[in-house]
Amino acid sequence: MPYPYVLLSAAVSLDGYLDDTGPERLLLSGPADFDRVDDVRASVDAILVGAGTIRADNPRLLVNSPERRAARTAAGRPEYPLKVTVSATGDLNPGAQFWHTGGQKVVYTTPEGADRLRAAGIAADADVVALGASLDWRAVLEDLHDVRGVRRLMVEGGGTVHTQLLQQGLADEVQLALAPLFVGDPDAPRLFGPGAYQSGRLRLVETRQVGDVVLMRYEPTAPGTGAVASAADRHWLSLACDLARQCPPSSSAFSVGAVVVAADGAELARGHSRESDDPVVHAEEAALAKIDPADPRLPGATVYSSLEPCTHRASRPRPCARLILDAGVRRVVTAWREPDTFVTGADGVGALSAKGVDVVVLPEYEEAATAPNRHLLT
Ligand SMILES: NC(=O)c1ccc[n+]([C@@H]2O[C@H](COP(=O)([O-])OP(=O)(O)OC[C@H]3O[C@@H](n4cnc5c(N)ncnc54)[C@H](OP(=O)(O)O)[C@@H]3O)[C@@H](O)[C@H]2O)c1
Ligand SMILES: [Zn+2]
Repeated sequence: MPYPYVLLSAAVSLDGYLDDTGPERLLLSGPADFDRVDDVRASVDAILVGAGTIRADNPRLLVNSPERRAARTAAGRPEYPLKVTVSATGDLNPGAQFWHTGGQKVVYTTPEGADRLRAAGIAADADVVALGASLDWRAVLEDLHDVRGVRRLMVEGGGTVHTQLLQQGLADEVQLALAPLFVGDPDAPRLFGPGAYQSGRLRLVETRQVGDVVLMRYEPTAPGTGAVASAADRHWLSLACDLARQCPPSSSAFSVGAVVVAADGAELARGHSRESDDPVVHAEEAALAKIDPADPRLPGATVYSSLEPCTHRASRPRPCARLILDAGVRRVVTAWREPDTFVTGADGVGALSAKGVDVVVLPEYEEAATAPNRHLLT
């Protein structure tokens, strides 16, 4: 179930607020940053805000630059990104600018919310999609991806929506514009609320001065839990696929990359096939060999491997699935099920699952995982 790339974007005061409590929207960033946001909007397929932001700010959520809109249409894309909102209650003003500017719109809601929105006439301006009594973000992202072709989604708040997406491990990137002012009102909306965040220690990928605000771009690092993949899972699996490209070429074995990541998002080790002049070492084996077997982080760790771990090996006493079990690791994320090239009926996924390991296969990375192995697959 592939999701769009989810980019959270917000401007925030030095004391962590998104707005004050006055009737007018508080302007946190300046013209240079609004132009930067316009550029990000022009790059995405859809922009999402929560119903609270529509009620509080009455935003239009447009690409304002005619040049950027022209570039979109020249590239065969709609002039404006799809506008998306979520509302459980359906309590939205049919006169809001959201419905009457820009291109297509969709609102995800509950059955009761859908009745209310239809009664208000909003179905004339937007697709009203009822997703069930409790609105599930994964269902929203799946619908955006599969039904509406959204590959890149920008989320522009508010705090309730940002908090849920980060806490559920669904954000791929966070872009914060830190504004040099204080709000100081405890009743003002905060950017991030209380709760358990499935994001780990975020990785800082960029800082940039934009006028008098500082743009900070972060990526989550913490693996997902159980059978559910997080944005960080995609990052680490993509890294494993990159590592597979570093393997010395071989006509008799696959090129595979692997990374072992702790629950808090810390990388414990990485490896690739045939590394360090060992002609038979496997990626998972090479990575695990770099970790102290007594490391207390292993039971909470995730092994990312571009190819599913092996279950039969002539060159070593223990195959990689066994090494993973013996290391106490309980979660594996992989991109590619082993074809019958060297052994028939390889089933590392089945062997690990049978021992209670959570195994997640992300087929959207299969192409990257197979790329360095094309010569073996004819
Ligand atoms: N500084 C910035 O960059 C920035 C950006 C955006 C917003 N803001 C500020 O943020 C404030 C609004 O933030 P907010 O947290 O109140 O609102 P919000 O996050 O925009 O929207 C919250 C609403 O979205 C709906 N919603 C959220 N999650 C849902 C779920 N899982 N299922 C169903 N519905 C869900 C609910 O709508 P219903 O109540 O209709 O059910 C909920 O009340 C405003 O003051 C605005 O100015 C600032
Ligand atoms: Zn192996």
